[in-house]
Amino acid sequence: MTVTSRGTLASHSTQGRAVFPEGFVWGAATAAYQIEGAVRDDGRGPSVWDTFSRTPGKVASGHTGDVACDHYHRYAEDVRLMADLGLGAYRFSVSWPRVQPDGAGPVNTRGLDFYDRLVDELVAAGITPYVTLYHWDLPQALEDRGGWTSRDTAHRLAEYAEVVHARLGDRVRHWTTLNEPWVQAFLGYGNGVHAPGRTDARSALLASHHFVLAHGLATQALRSAGAREIMLVVNSSLVVTPEGMLDPGAPVSEADAEAVTRANAMLHRQILDPVLLGEYPAEMLEILERHGGTGHIHDGDLKEAHQPTDVIGVNYYNPCVVRSKRGEPADAAWPGSEDIAFPGVEAPKTAMGWPIVPETLSRLLLQLSHDYPGTALMVTENGAAFEDVVTAGASGDRVHDAERTAYIDAHLRAVHAAIEGGADVRGYLVWSLLDNFEWAEGYDRRFGIVHVDFATQRRLVKDSGIYYREVIRENGPA
Ligand code: NOJ
Repeated sequence: MTVTSRGTLASHSTQGRAVFPEGFVWGAATAAYQIEGAVRDDGRGPSVWDTFSRTPGKVASGHTGDVACDHYHRYAEDVRLMADLGLGAYRFSVSWPRVQPDGAGPVNTRGLDFYDRLVDELVAAGITPYVTLYHWDLPQALEDRGGWTSRDTAHRLAEYAEVVHARLGDRVRHWTTLNEPWVQAFLGYGNGVHAPGRTDARSALLASHHFVLAHGLATQALRSAGAREIMLVVNSSLVVTPEGMLDPGAPVSEADAEAVTRANAMLHRQILDPVLLGEYPAEMLEILERHGGTGHIHDGDLKEAHQPTDVIGVNYYNPCVVRSKRGEPADAAWPGSEDIAFPGVEAPKTAMGWPIVPETLSRLLLQLSHDYPGTALMVTENGAAFEDVVTAGASGDRVHDAERTAYIDAHLRAVHAAIEGGADVRGYLVWSLLDNFEWAEGYDRRFGIVHVDFATQRRLVKDSGIYYREVIRENGPA
């Protein structure tokens, strides 16, 4: 099969109904800095994203999260919208600088009050809250003390986890420690595309280790406080060669196979192996040796990191295509990329330029199940940005986002195929409920199944939202 046009996506809609297992969780996800706004309300302290987005040239069009979707003030309306869509679960993150403006010590009760009200509203609407403790908005005060390059930040996360659990734990069952630590480490500290905008390979490697340590410490704090389900959410993508992207059986040269193994170690296993297996992959230790050594990994760290984790959350958008490097310069921000090339991909693309290859989601879920046997999985983010247009119709305004609907439909079928193949996938959360602040891309990249007019804050359910409501009602796409 070749993917050269939108035809591949269309073929998925002809496959008929895919019925998901009973109890499969259907929901949507967001993150605090991307939707809340109200960055100066009720004693919130500054985060690295406030600082970064106000630094000229860092975010497209100079956008900031100052107002975003104004969810901080409109949360009740947004929960009604979720109920109207039929969501069974809502994954959101708590803003650390709202709760501990200084990143440590004194707790800002008014910040916690907001999440208290939000959780009450969700529970009253019959929507299960999935709380993410850390989705990239580090208190600036902690960054000033070293941020994630400092071991102390890992201990601070555990302290903060305890504080949030003490307030919400009576109603929240599902806890996530970290969202996409690899992205934070390597885009935040490695290539500087995300906050805090540092550009130092060694710093990225330190951050990465401190994240796995932080996950372990926070997990222990949550467990002793009585938390029932603990999840780690990772950015995940199937690493393949150009030939292997569509044909898993395609012949691969030894050099390319090695490039795949090394890219996997660098992109995924440096986070998942310490947490799930209690060790770093050998390829990663080699990379560390070439970039300042392993002195930052203290005795006992891997034991702390290797805590029973109930679910691995998979954020999936696209495959990662690699081959062995043939003479291109190394990417200094990505240690280990010295001999790996990331060639272009022949596939339809989203507005982010990300290739659309739904089959690779099935293969990824099966691969994770194989590499980490017995691990429960949840698709904690999946979705796409496209150029949306609001059109006036006889029965009101509409957004006919057929491409997003096709994307979600095809990926749901891929999840279903993985379940049929034996993967233990517990749920699917679409990214995102609302159009929101897409980090370095600002508001120009829309991922929502609900359109947001940022001038008026009007919410408008897109066609993809209408489609998703039907999927939830029927427990699978028709
Ligand atoms: C993953 C991140 O967790 C989320 O914050 C982001 O908006 C989406 N990817 C889309 O880029």
